Amino acid sequence: MSCTWRDCTDNGGEKIKVECFDGLLFPPKPIDVTSEKQCHDIRDLEVREDDVFVLSYPKSGTHWTWEVTQMLVAETSEYRKERMPVFVLDITSKADLDAMTSPRVFATHFRFRYFPQQVLKKGNKVVMVHRNPKDVAVSTYGMYTGTKSMAMYDGKWDDYFDMWLSGDVPYNSWFDFELEWQKELGEHPEMNVHHVHYEKMKKDPVECVKGIASFLGRDVSDETCADIAEACGFQKLRQAYSDFKGDKLKGAWKDGTGIFRKGEVGDWKNWFTVSQSERLDQEFTDRMGASRWTYSFTM
Ligand code: A3P
Repeated sequence: MSCTWRDCTDNGGEKIKVECFDGLLFPPKPIDVTSEKQCHDIRDLEVREDDVFVLSYPKSGTHWTWEVTQMLVAETSEYRKERMPVFVLDITSKADLDAMTSPRVFATHFRFRYFPQQVLKKGNKVVMVHRNPKDVAVSTYGMYTGTKSMAMYDGKWDDYFDMWLSGDVPYNSWFDFELEWQKELGEHPEMNVHHVHYEKMKKDPVECVKGIASFLGRDVSDETCADIAEACGFQKLRQAYSDFKGDKLKGAWKDGTGIFRKGEVGDWKNWFTVSQSERLDQEFTDRMGASRWTYSFTM
């Protein structure tokens, strides 16, 4: 197996560049390593017992969940000066990851087969985030059309929707990601996973923060959980990334929006046609009908 570069091309001929490895599609990385090497480095990562992982399909609320999780691990509602991407396994070199001081809270969009395998023996805690695929599709479209350099994509929503539904996009199909992880977690009950849902976090952030705190076994007061929920609310976190964390990626966005685009449940209604919504509903019924997971969204 080796890596190749190609374009995902929508019906209108607009393209997103991806690196293909082992049937998986990766966007360009800021580090100069192939996806093959990165996948193998991460699979074989030297894991420490207190490492915590946030796992998600892209645009499911990874930044948000990572911020909450790292605050809980540090038992504070103070912002940490580093941005989440510094801790993303997919785009950080092994040398940098190995050099980080503990406790480390990582994030990743990798599939099980390239997830650090030592976790199976060491029992690390993994927080997995889920979000309505309709909102995920819109959020990924915002990312690929909004960034200047990461994808250079200029497609129309209707063409993007078809491409996204087909799974020929960076990180492949949302359905494949969810189903593959579900299967692997079923076969590896030793993995210690807590599921959080974007929609639930929006509805009851304090309860969700408390749930993560209890999963992590952190002695964090209800008051601190409430402070963390507030500090990680959409407006405050967006402000923190812009002022305090110096959102370097912001310069990479055409209109300076950054990763904190809208932060809402149901923005898909402003984008999807009735027919697109029905097609995704049908796909969801066909593919997730036998799913053992209960999601917090209504399609
Ligand atoms: P939108 O594009 O719908 O606004 P990820 O971190 O996985 O890349 O996900 C990014 C999505 O999460 C974006 O969605 C972003 O606005 C949203 N998001 C980030 N922080 C959030 C918060 N504190 N509350 C709600 N949504 C948040």
